[in-house]
Amino acid sequence: ESTLGAAAAQSGRYFGVAIASGKLGDSAYTSIANREFNSVTAENEMKIDATEPQRGRFDFSAADRVYNWAVQNGKEVRGHTLAWHSQQPGWMQSLSGSALRQAMIDHIKGVMAHYKGKIAQWDVVNEAFADGSSGARRDSNLQRTGNDWIEVAFRTARAADPSAKLCYNDYNVENWTWAKTQAMYNMVRDFKQRGVPIDCVGFQAHFNSGSPYNSNFRTTLQNFAALGVDVAVTELDIQGASPTTYANVVNDCLAVSRCLGVTVWGVRDMDSWRSGDTPLLFNNDGSKKPAYTSVLNAL
Ligand code: XIL
Repeated sequence: ESTLGAAAAQSGRYFGVAIASGKLGDSAYTSIANREFNSVTAENEMKIDATEPQRGRFDFSAADRVYNWAVQNGKEVRGHTLAWHSQQPGWMQSLSGSALRQAMIDHIKGVMAHYKGKIAQWDVVNEAFADGSSGARRDSNLQRTGNDWIEVAFRTARAADPSAKLCYNDYNVENWTWAKTQAMYNMVRDFKQRGVPIDCVGFQAHFNSGSPYNSNFRTTLQNFAALGVDVAVTELDIQGASPTTYANVVNDCLAVSRCLGVTVWGVRDMDSWRSGDTPLLFNNDGSKKPAYTSVLNAL
């Protein structure tokens, strides 16, 4: 095959990309994105601050620009993200307790209703665990509403759109030996045992010198899949874009039958949220980097 999406489709998977609505007028950007990828995640446009800038007043204008571009070009869409400590609108940042809990529920219902039946996977909850050795939940206004906020989010999401796969998504959870990974594993195991509706786990895979790729990532994917959830690589970027590391990540996904696909977090290096790391598959002039060829050959 000659594109990433077509190559991934040979094994029933997708190869996705994060899209920024503000770049959809850049034809160099859209031609690469349309040619190479068959799944789309909105880089920021489906987040809480974008979709509910004022309480109860939903705004899907930017989100729909990304969604419509994706669907008109035949791509599936990952929804990102419904409950998160970051990129909250000001009104939500200032809430706490039962008012915040209700606002979270109303937000999930409002966004999922707008896209009902149209989203392949939703990142229902993003980044709820702390970094480091504690294995604890991250402190946040949502966490302070009570430890059950995550399962309430998932139950709300299932009722709002039963057709979407419901994912928990996080970073620094790729290395099996890390406490954060173990904490996430214990939560998913507990959810499956108690019937909390969770279908998938997203591994962001933002690799850099402080959080490097480790070959035990495959073990991590396998162990989560064995709990009865799908897995996905949701925000891949690799500092320096080592072709070998990119191929390793792709091969890890391909080795796990429940790995749905891989999403890279941007098109060209200049589109990256950490562009100084030159972490993506395309140069700024649109040409393919060595990592691109390595990924295509691995698929
Ligand atoms: C990042 C975007 O790429 C940036 O444009 C934005 O300024 C901040 O958020 N984990 C996530 C993503 O789940 O939503 C983040 O995206 C990157 C880290």
